[in-house]
Amino acid sequence: MRALALAAALAAMPVLALAVMAGAGWASPIPALVAIALTLLVALGVASLWMHDIGVLTEAVRSLASDVPAPAPGHPALALLEEPTRAVESLARRVATSGALVDRLQRADAAIVERLPDPLIVLAADRSLLRANAAARVAFGTDIGAVLRHPGLHGAIERAFANGTSQTADLTLPVPVQRDVNAAVVPMDPSLADGGQAVVVLSDRTQERVLDRMRADFVANASHELRTPLASVIGFIDTLRGPAADDPGAQQRFLAIMAAQGARMNRLIDDLLSLSRIELMEHQAPSEDLDLPRLVSRFVAGYAPRLAERPAAPDVQIAEALPRLHGDAGQIEQVLQNLLDNAVKYGRPDGVIRLTVQRALPGGRWPARSGVVLSVADQGAGIPREHLPRLTERFYRVDTSRSRAVGGTGLGLAIVKHIVNRHRGQLVIESEEGVGTTVSVWLPEVVTEE
Ligand SMILES: Nc1ncnc2c1ncn2[C@@H]1O[C@H](COP(=O)(O)OP(=O)(O)O)[C@@H](O)[C@H]1O
Ligand SMILES: [Mg+2]
Repeated sequence: MRALALAAALAAMPVLALAVMAGAGWASPIPALVAIALTLLVALGVASLWMHDIGVLTEAVRSLASDVPAPAPGHPALALLEEPTRAVESLARRVATSGALVDRLQRADAAIVERLPDPLIVLAADRSLLRANAAARVAFGTDIGAVLRHPGLHGAIERAFANGTSQTADLTLPVPVQRDVNAAVVPMDPSLADGGQAVVVLSDRTQERVLDRMRADFVANASHELRTPLASVIGFIDTLRGPAADDPGAQQRFLAIMAAQGARMNRLIDDLLSLSRIELMEHQAPSEDLDLPRLVSRFVAGYAPRLAERPAAPDVQIAEALPRLHGDAGQIEQVLQNLLDNAVKYGRPDGVIRLTVQRALPGGRWPARSGVVLSVADQGAGIPREHLPRLTERFYRVDTSRSRAVGGTGLGLAIVKHIVNRHRGQLVIESEEGVGTTVSVWLPEVVTEE
């Protein structure tokens, strides 16, 4: 329809002129009519081609305006529209590139939030949950709603939205297990690509608090362990100066006790120092070769005097042709010393102490990798099951007075545990009441890299 109107507009003047000329007798009517018809025809043709080109351009511009990616515009039939079409083409390319860039930035924004290692919650303008990243889903699962409703965090969110500044809050979440969480609410201006108006970063401080508590407990325990013998020594010094000043018999007795207490403090300090030394190097696995069979036989030979006091000879079995191991000989000797000491101290005096070194069967109770197991078994009274998981804690003893009476510091198994950790091994304590205790240390075979 519009093509017709355009054609009429184009042809109007020449047709009118020809008609006037024919009417006035300046042109013969037949050629004038033919000319009029030709003019109309050409005008119609040009108009319809033009309309087509404009249609193509309009379509191209319209698709640029919409979200649909712009297809390359068709080609104009008339050279007249060539230039605008090319301009639209380059515009379309520009729009497409910046569209891809915006898309990439949006996805990058989502990926950063999703993959940050700290739990992160994105809030919408109405303070509702927009999304929670993977770490938050793992840490809080379905409790995220409860976390957001926590009065402390709720207040921090309100303040952050009201002031436009970051706010923090310390929360204690009672369920499912008590957790100490530090929350930082960071308002987002401009907002995130998905419309997020604020980000809540949660850091679980439970572990730190537990460690702080453990450190404090450790210092308290260590001081207490040292104070007891120290108090006794000070007490005896007073006695020796005063009431026992003229009693050589009592003096001898008291001095013997004082010597024993001094030795106990010495042992404690030795154990504390070796524990801290081992802890300092725990992250660094030993890299020197360890000839475990040789080390064990030599150690047992040196330990023989203590074992000789016992009625039953120890049963020592060391397998041959064992996998290659890395290890710190001094530390493995410390392990042997502590395990044999325990077997001697807590085992049945007339029982057999069995020491074995053998290849570990992968799988089952040992890791799937190949390795070697060193174990010390005694036939003592055993350890009640509930104590087993805690034996490697510092100063943990089943029976403190018995341990003290036999010269224990309560640190032996903690030292063993740290040495085994440093060797990337495993420590297993098995015990059956009335039957005996077996402590096993698994050490991994050296993996030789080609
Ligand atoms: N072979 C064992 N039989 C029975 N109880 C054991 C044995 N080994 C360790 N225990 C218990 O574990 C506790 C911790 O051991 P350890 O850390 O070596 O400290 P310590 O021997 O100085 O008391 C001991 O006090 C004892 O109660
Ligand atoms: Mg011990």
